[in-house]
Amino acid sequence: MLSEYLLAEMNRLGAQDALPLHRQLYEALRRAMLESKLGAGERLPSSRDLAQDLNLSRNTVVAAINQLSVEGYLLSRVGSGTYVNDSVPRATPGAGRIRSAPATPTGRLSQRGQALTQRFCATELEVQPFTPGIADFSPFPLTLWQRLQNKHWRMTYPDMLDYNTSGGYAPLRRAIADYLRVFRSVQLDADQVIVTSGTQQSLELCARLLADHGDTVWVEDPAYWGAAKAFMATGLAIHPVPVDEEGIRPGPADAARPPRLIYVTPSHQYPTGAVMSLPRRQQLLATAREHNAWILEDDYDSEYRFSGPPISSLEGLDTDGRVFYMGTFSKVLYPGIKLGYLVVPKPLVAAFKQAHYDLNRPGQMPLQAALAEFIEMGHFSSALRRARQSYAERRAALLDALKPVLGDDTYISGAEQGLHLCLRLPAPVDDRALAQQIAQQGLTVRPLSAYCLARRDLKGLVIGYGYAPLAQIGRCGQQLAAAVRQFTASGGG
Ligand SMILES: Cc1ncc(COP(=O)(O)O)c(C=O)c1O
Repeated sequence: MLSEYLLAEMNRLGAQDALPLHRQLYEALRRAMLESKLGAGERLPSSRDLAQDLNLSRNTVVAAINQLSVEGYLLSRVGSGTYVNDSVPRATPGAGRIRSAPATPTGRLSQRGQALTQRFCATELEVQPFTPGIADFSPFPLTLWQRLQNKHWRMTYPDMLDYNTSGGYAPLRRAIADYLRVFRSVQLDADQVIVTSGTQQSLELCARLLADHGDTVWVEDPAYWGAAKAFMATGLAIHPVPVDEEGIRPGPADAARPPRLIYVTPSHQYPTGAVMSLPRRQQLLATAREHNAWILEDDYDSEYRFSGPPISSLEGLDTDGRVFYMGTFSKVLYPGIKLGYLVVPKPLVAAFKQAHYDLNRPGQMPLQAALAEFIEMGHFSSALRRARQSYAERRAALLDALKPVLGDDTYISGAEQGLHLCLRLPAPVDDRALAQQIAQQGLTVRPLSAYCLARRDLKGLVIGYGYAPLAQIGRCGQQLAAAVRQFTASGGG
C-alpha cells in the first residue's frame, strides 16, 4: 500500500539524514514514482487524505507536492486532482536504486549513439545533500506562477499556439536584453536574443551552424559534461584544453589543433569555479581571432555572486563579434521550465532564427509570455534576491564546516559564485573512492576527476550547497569534513 511504502521510506530518510518532513515526503514520493510504486498517469490521493494517512500536516504534504509539480513529476488537473506525469523515467526492474543511464543494448546503436551513452554520462539521479547542480525550488512562488500561466492561457490567441519564427516572445526577449545589458555588460539589442529550450539547445544550434562534422571544438578540461555531449552529438572533434586558476590556458600544443569553436565558462568555470582573468580573456579573444574561431560563452550561474568583484561577461570585451553568449533560467527558476537564451552576433541573427525555426520548431509562447510578465512585474528580481540570501547562508555554513580539513594542499576553489564549490585535494588522493565512501553516509558529492577529459592531475570533490536546507548543511558538512580527514589520514585510498 502506498502510505506504508511512503512511511517506510520517510523513516529511513529521517533516520539517515534528518531531512525536514516535507523533504522526506518529497523524496519518498519521487522514489515511489521512479520505482513504479506509483504508476504513470496514476492519480495521487488528495493532500488531505495523504496528510491523514501519514499523520502529517496538510502544509507539509502540499509543500512536497508543489515541489514535485515544479520539477514536472506531477501534473495538476483543475477540479480532478494530481497525477503522475507519464514521462517520469522508471528504474529497470531489479536495477536497484534510481539511475539516470539505464543499461542499453549498445549493439543496436550507431557509433555516435554508443559514444553518447557510454562516455562522460550524467551521474546518478540521486538527490541528496551536496549533490552538485541541484537547487532548492521550494521557495519558488508557485501559486503566483500558476496564476500568471493561467492568465496567459486565458488570453492566448491562436498565433500564440503556433510555432514561433521570430526567436521567441518579443517582450521576453526585451526583458532578457535589458537584464543582460545592465547586469552582465553584454552589448546587444533585443533582436539578437533567441529564446531556446536551455543551454543544451543553444550549444547544439551553435555547433550545427558554425562548424562542420569533424571540426575541432576546444573544451575546458575539466568540463561540463552537457557541453561535451552536445558537441559529440553534432559530430565535432573535442579537444580538451586545461584550465588553471585563471581559466582556460591554451598552450603551443593546442594551436596544432586549430579550433572552429571554443567553449568556455569564464565567470565560474564548471566545475573548478575559476574566474577567467582579464589578461586570459584578452588572450582568448586574440587566439579566437587568430584561428578565425567562434567563442561560446556559457554564463550558467552568474546570478549568484557572493563575494569578490562583479564579473562582467567575456562578450562585453569582444570587439569583433566572435562571442555567442548563452544563459539559462534553470538555476533561478527551475530546470523543468526548459527556457534559456542565446545572444547571436548581429550579422548572423537572421540565419540563426531561420535555422532555429527549421531545426527545433520552437513554441511555448504562453509560457514565455508568463515569464516575461514575471520579470517585468519584478517577481524575478524578488525571487532572485530571496534565493541569493538563502544560498549565501548555506554557502557560509558549508565553508565553515570544511575549515578544519583545509591546509597547504587541500583548499577550496570557486566558492565566490554559483551553487557549488570545489574542495581541491592533493593528486595522490583517490577522489572517486572518497566520494563512494561519502555516499555510504547518505551524502552525494562528485569526484573532480570524473569531470576531466584528458587530465589525470586533478583531484577533489565538487560539492553543491543549493539543495540541502541550512540546518542540515552545517551538520552534514561536519560529517563530510570528518570523512575527508579520515580518508586522507589513512593514506587516501
Ligand atoms: C556549465 C553549465 N551550463 C549550463 C547548465 C544548465 O543548462 P540547461 O539550460 O540546459 O538546464 C548547467 C547546469 O547544471 C551547467 O552546469
